[in-house]
Amino acid sequence: MALAILLALLVPAASAFYLPGIAPSEYDEGAPLKILANKLVSAKNVVPFDYYSLPLCTPPNAGKSNRLSLGQVLMGERAEPTSYDLSMNVNETCKLLCDKSYDQQDVAHFKDRVADEYNARLNLDNLPVIVKGKNDLDEEVFQLGYPLGFMEGDATPCLYNHLAFTVRYHKPSGPMYAKDANQFRVVGFEVVPMSVAHTKDDKSELTTCPVESSASPQCLTASSTSVTYTYDITYIESELQWATRWDPLLKANPELKEIQWTVYLDFARYNNIDDDEEIQEESGWKLIHGDVFRPPAASGLLSVFVGSGAQILCMTGVTLVFALLGFLSPSFRGGLLTTMLSLWVLSSAVCGYYSARIYSGLGGTNKKSVTLGSAFLFSGATFVIFFGLNFLLWVSGSTGAVPFFTLLLLLVMWFGISVPLNVIGAFIGYKQKAFEFPVRTNQIPREIPNSSIFSNVLFGLASGILPFGVVFMELVFILNSIWQNEIFYFFGFLGAVFLILVLTCAEVSIVLTYLQLSKESYHWWWPAYISTASSGLYVFGYSLIFLFTQPGLKGIHVVSTLIYTGYMLLGSFMFALGAGCIGFLSSFAFVRKIYASVHID
Ligand SMILES: *[C@@H]1O[C@H](CO)[C@@H](O)[C@H](O)[C@H]1NC(C)=O
Repeated sequence: MALAILLALLVPAASAFYLPGIAPSEYDEGAPLKILANKLVSAKNVVPFDYYSLPLCTPPNAGKSNRLSLGQVLMGERAEPTSYDLSMNVNETCKLLCDKSYDQQDVAHFKDRVADEYNARLNLDNLPVIVKGKNDLDEEVFQLGYPLGFMEGDATPCLYNHLAFTVRYHKPSGPMYAKDANQFRVVGFEVVPMSVAHTKDDKSELTTCPVESSASPQCLTASSTSVTYTYDITYIESELQWATRWDPLLKANPELKEIQWTVYLDFARYNNIDDDEEIQEESGWKLIHGDVFRPPAASGLLSVFVGSGAQILCMTGVTLVFALLGFLSPSFRGGLLTTMLSLWVLSSAVCGYYSARIYSGLGGTNKKSVTLGSAFLFSGATFVIFFGLNFLLWVSGSTGAVPFFTLLLLLVMWFGISVPLNVIGAFIGYKQKAFEFPVRTNQIPREIPNSSIFSNVLFGLASGILPFGVVFMELVFILNSIWQNEIFYFFGFLGAVFLILVLTCAEVSIVLTYLQLSKESYHWWWPAYISTASSGLYVFGYSLIFLFTQPGLKGIHVVSTLIYTGYMLLGSFMFALGAGCIGFLSSFAFVRKIYASVHID
């Protein structure tokens, strides 16, 4: 039932999109092509805006956004119509888009956005427009979207009012296509933005056409506030196949991948060092067999944490598998977020189940509050942060603000699907036979020789640096891609990092637990959890350092900084829950295993 509702909710959102790689759009010669406006984004300011939040050439049907997936809406994407009038394989030069004249308020508005280096994102046939350029090493690089303009001095914005588009098309050939079939597929979409102060003759024909790159720029000053927008369109045939049209965009940065591989190999080597050697020698741990399974303080909270972590791991794991199988190609826009959200909701049952299993194993009796806790702890934290940030975005008039209906949909998904699934999971968890421990727990707690629980916790906090070290390099790339609004699709590498992270967390926690048990200290439950969960603190700390070392920090808006911090807080919390869960479960398995081999006389 719940599943049916979820599918019913998601299917209409997704049906506006083909499955990636399956259904290309084919155009006849002269068929109309639609350029859609997505949003204005900037590397200096993480708040995105509607394309038409600026007085650009607005078509009569503006505001009627095309259908988007839930993930796209949440990411602040839009697909607004534009007035560009294109026909497949018909070159045009200096076509008039519209004439505009601006008042002082408009000019101030443009100035803000141009000074913040906002980029306008346009799409054609689901392909984003790019601007090509060269980097310092003379390699070809590209930028998503085109810059709105540039500043002349501190006060004068100049606009890129002439866009020279290039559409690359591919004509499929092969036995399935008739030789003379004139079917065109879009495989590339580029633009060269230009600024030109257009002039007209007495017949109001533009005299500045075709536009030269040496033309004098269109700047908005007190005396000049009318702007004529024009565009060129050139079609060029390409050998690039439709199925691989995203490859040039994804392969744009070969150096990046190389660095990542080096790090990966280093960590792989590091992870191969054997930890077993020390385990042979000491035997203090055998002495505490009568206390080692004594339930910890706040066992309910621990169960809820571990359950939520299991949910996060489940979601991340399945998302990565989907991504590696190629289901999340960038042409399925917003697909990553939609997938993660759906998986999150569906895996609520995992959370309920694990919380219940651990809690009943620890002999807990307050089952109801643990179940409620598992249903609301992480989701609640997420929603509070998310609604708070959304309120900020809404106040600043950004497209990033999620529409009311979407918020409602999220609430329905939470209360209507996630919570019931959680309860069902918990029900199944409690129904099952509780864990059995290999040794019996004594009535009277044993004294712990010269060791305080605080030193164990401190030790646990310090050891979180190891899992953090594993993800450190990846984190740099992810943060850069969030900050610079670039595409991040190194899923293969991310998958490898995820596996290494799981192994590292397990090892760190087991080694720590073992050392502690050897000191005859049996309060191992929480330290085992904290030893890996604490890496979330390092992740958050590092993301703050990253923020404060951004070169353009002074120009970054407060709202931007808050939003970034909010999302990083959430991300680090997820990381902590996931890592803690792995640490706890592996220590738990380890302790059960070693005490199973103890023979008590
Ligand atoms: C459009 O312009 C490009 C570049 O100048 C040229 O290669 C192509 O043949 C032109 N296409 C048509 C249909 O005229």
